[in-house]
Amino acid sequence: MQIKSADFVVSSAELKACPAPKYPEYAFIGRSNVGKSSLINMLTDRLDLAKTSSKPGKTQLINHFLINQSWYLTDLPGFGYAKVPKALKSTWEKMIKDYLIYRENLMCVFVLLDSRHEQQKKDKELIDFLGEEQVPFVLVFTKTDKLSAPQLKRNMESYKKSLQSQWDQLPDIFLTSAEKKTGRDEILTFIENTNKFFKNQN
Ligand code: GTP
Ligand code: MG
Repeated sequence: MQIKSADFVVSSAELKACPAPKYPEYAFIGRSNVGKSSLINMLTDRLDLAKTSSKPGKTQLINHFLINQSWYLTDLPGFGYAKVPKALKSTWEKMIKDYLIYRENLMCVFVLLDSRHEQQKKDKELIDFLGEEQVPFVLVFTKTDKLSAPQLKRNMESYKKSLQSQWDQLPDIFLTSAEKKTGRDEILTFIENTNKFFKNQN
């Protein structure tokens, strides 16, 4: 799929403030600093569509972007990972959980994981949550440019092993680097194919 347009639409602090669910939607979620905003910029071929930062916790709202006038991409804040006050953290978690469970046009959640790290407790909790709530998701390993090919292979095998001990079926997995633009075609093709299943109920 070619990206012809990518426009910021709105930042929302809660589900009911999100734009009308009239297009298929894909959400990007993962630990703070995992590279969500960078991946969104890489996919859309924009340098600064989603704000990136070397300081975790940059993204604090649900940010909607409209791509090719036909599908939404959302950048979500780190799921309970950012170093923020406890009270604020639980408000965020509720906002994100509500969004993940009730957003009716949500076609798939992209769970971003740093390819350098082993499975983290918070990531496992998120994957368990999505599984239990039957929210479709795929896994996206980020920053693969920071590893050598053998290191990456080793990490992927170990990650798959720990997933296999928890689940009968593995979700789709994408390997990406925002730096090297790895995984771009694969993800855009996946989205293009998934868009065909969208039924506009409005
Ligand atoms: P929050 O908004 O805080 O949740 O972070 P985020 O997940 O949106 O991360 P962001 O895209 O802001 O990236 C965090 C840092 O990682 C930045 O310094 C990026 O330049 C860097 N980064 C992101 N993706 C890659 C990648 O593929 N390769 C390399 N080498 N660095 C990356
Ligand atoms: Mg971000």
